[in-house]
Amino acid sequence: MTSRYEETYARAQSDPEGFWAEAAEAIHWYKRWDRVLDDSNPPFYRWFPGGEVNTCYNALDRHVDDGGRGDQIALIHDSPVTDSVRRLSYRALRDQVAVFAGALARLGVAKGVRVLIYMPMVPEAAVAMLACARLGAIHSVVFGGFAANELATRIDDAKPRVIVAGSCGIEPGRIVAYKPLLDEAIATAAHKPAHCIVLQRPQGPATLIPGRDLDWGDAIDGASAHECVPVGANDPLYILYTSGTTGVPKGIVRDNAGHLVALEWTMANHYGVAPGEAFWAASDIGWVVGHSYIVYAPLFHGTTSIIYEGKPVGTPDSGAFWRVIAEHDVKVMFTAPTAFRAIKREDPEAKLMKRYDLSGFRTLFLAGERSDPDTMEWSETHLGVPVIDHWWQTETGWLIAGNFIGLGQLPVKHGSATKPAPGYDLQVLDEQNRQVAAGQIGALSVKMPLPPGSLTTLWHNDAGYVSSYMEAYPGYYQTGDAGYIDEDGYVWVMTRTDDIINVAGHRLSTGGMEEVLAAHADVAECAVMGVADAIKGQVPLGMLVLKAGVNRPPEDIVGEAVQMVRDRIGPVAAFKTAIVVARLPKTRSGKILRGTMQKIANGEDFRMPATIDDPAILDEIATGLKSVGYPKS
Ligand code: COA
Ligand code: AMP
Repeated sequence: MTSRYEETYARAQSDPEGFWAEAAEAIHWYKRWDRVLDDSNPPFYRWFPGGEVNTCYNALDRHVDDGGRGDQIALIHDSPVTDSVRRLSYRALRDQVAVFAGALARLGVAKGVRVLIYMPMVPEAAVAMLACARLGAIHSVVFGGFAANELATRIDDAKPRVIVAGSCGIEPGRIVAYKPLLDEAIATAAHKPAHCIVLQRPQGPATLIPGRDLDWGDAIDGASAHECVPVGANDPLYILYTSGTTGVPKGIVRDNAGHLVALEWTMANHYGVAPGEAFWAASDIGWVVGHSYIVYAPLFHGTTSIIYEGKPVGTPDSGAFWRVIAEHDVKVMFTAPTAFRAIKREDPEAKLMKRYDLSGFRTLFLAGERSDPDTMEWSETHLGVPVIDHWWQTETGWLIAGNFIGLGQLPVKHGSATKPAPGYDLQVLDEQNRQVAAGQIGALSVKMPLPPGSLTTLWHNDAGYVSSYMEAYPGYYQTGDAGYIDEDGYVWVMTRTDDIINVAGHRLSTGGMEEVLAAHADVAECAVMGVADAIKGQVPLGMLVLKAGVNRPPEDIVGEAVQMVRDRIGPVAAFKTAIVVARLPKTRSGKILRGTMQKIANGEDFRMPATIDDPAILDEIATGLKSVGYPKS
């Protein structure tokens, strides 16, 4: 099939309003927009102002009311960690969501009120999100692998009236009690929610605080089903916090209508999936991939979505993904390359794959970090289907670059995320804001306006939105990624330009970890950098300089530092290695040379920085790194 990508991209460039107005026909509107794009207040562009929609109506009710999908399975909860599979039809899910919305409304949740959701991978997490959408309330989901302190920061920023939590999460080999973390977070936070609704899981029930906490069952007891509340196109649907360049997370705000239109458009055109088929994003609802492609887009599109509570390996083995694909007739899957690296390591010849009938499986999509060519080749060879890398961010909510299967697949170049998505005027800029030639590396930047579905601002922080994304390259959105576009127009995303690292597809700030380490009583100075890891892509590694006069055993201090990051940020940071060094290499102006240390740890060639204050320090750093096994052979 000849690809229709080029003409589609060109159309979105030349007539964005016509393009997106046409895409908007695929969703249900209570009231159509006054204008497709309001560009009167840059960089605060607004899509479909004046329109009225309800996200939950588009996800559920319309499929039940007149879409003929009431009995179709909407969600499958496949949970090897609890040895259970649960299926919910569109009708059953709609009914549960409507009643839970009624329960939230009884607690004072209404349009614009925030609800924080801290839950494991259970259908009730999606029920809570959709119930908020039904009411026009704003949800903020916090990933379960974050510690109480991170949760507290988000509580103080979002100021939720209600928090919906699971009593526990289940990680291989251990139960993670969420409720004590929640209690600690609420105790630490200045803002106090009026109520918490707790889903009690038999694997780890929680103690409830009378007056404040309600059991999920009691919360819905007697609640009446709530109708969908029409909301303004640009009213926020959710806030999702993501790592910024400091320890303070950024509250990405997504509005209702743009999100609906863009996500629905991607399902057929990028992922090539049809209503009625099963689509599986093996991510977590706490991340943007989970918001967009476990919960919202698959339901907007009338597909069956899988909520998988397990890992690619160890639950129970590295055939877990193949089992899920075969058992639920998954046509299209989306996950992070790290998951496939983990499978490849355990089962290099993909022997377990042969146990399952994968004949219905069509396409594998990878994102969250760069897909390394090895992993792509391995997946292509063994699965025998197209393996598609695509690039996106929490901020954009959907892909910036990909390979549009629904428009006709373009040839794959391993290591490239293929071509810009229609709606994104992606350019590579130098420091003077000029476009560089094809093949030259620079800042990957999007000429404003961003397409529908991307962030509209930071929560209660318009100034932060401008300073974080709009100031470095005036007129452009700064992605924070560097890379190039080759002669064929293929996009190559190479590295971050800030202190963000990507650990097993999870986005983390090394600056945030440095803030935690700096708080250790014996640490005078520190640096954290991301070093290459065969499975997780990157892992953080810390360098600690101790205060003068501290003569405790360095290994004790390292142990405490590791524990502090786990306690303050969470196990997801995977901060396990640090070394004590006498001093850190710096430029003469005092800037720590993290990049140079990173290259030494990775065993890469590096040029001695001309501005280094004392080159001999690098030998000391290399010796310290060797003591903890870096560079890895
Ligand atoms: N609640 C509580 N703890 C959690 C958690 C959650 N929801 N998710 C992860 N953790 C903990 C893990 O138990 C682990 O703790 P440990 O240090 O005690 O072992 C730590 O956080 C790191 O977890 P994870 O990143 O999952 O690493 P892992 O070593 O357990 O597994 C992979 C490695 C590659 C199998 C795993 O990272 C994976 O499946 N990744 C898929 C990536 C993904 O979904 N990315 C989202 C973007 S698409
Ligand atoms: P997050 O906001 O957690 O989705 O992380 C977004 C960041 O992950 C991007 O800015 C990139 O640095 C990285 N990323 C995501 N997908 C890709 C990809 N396909 N190729 C390269 N980097 C990616």
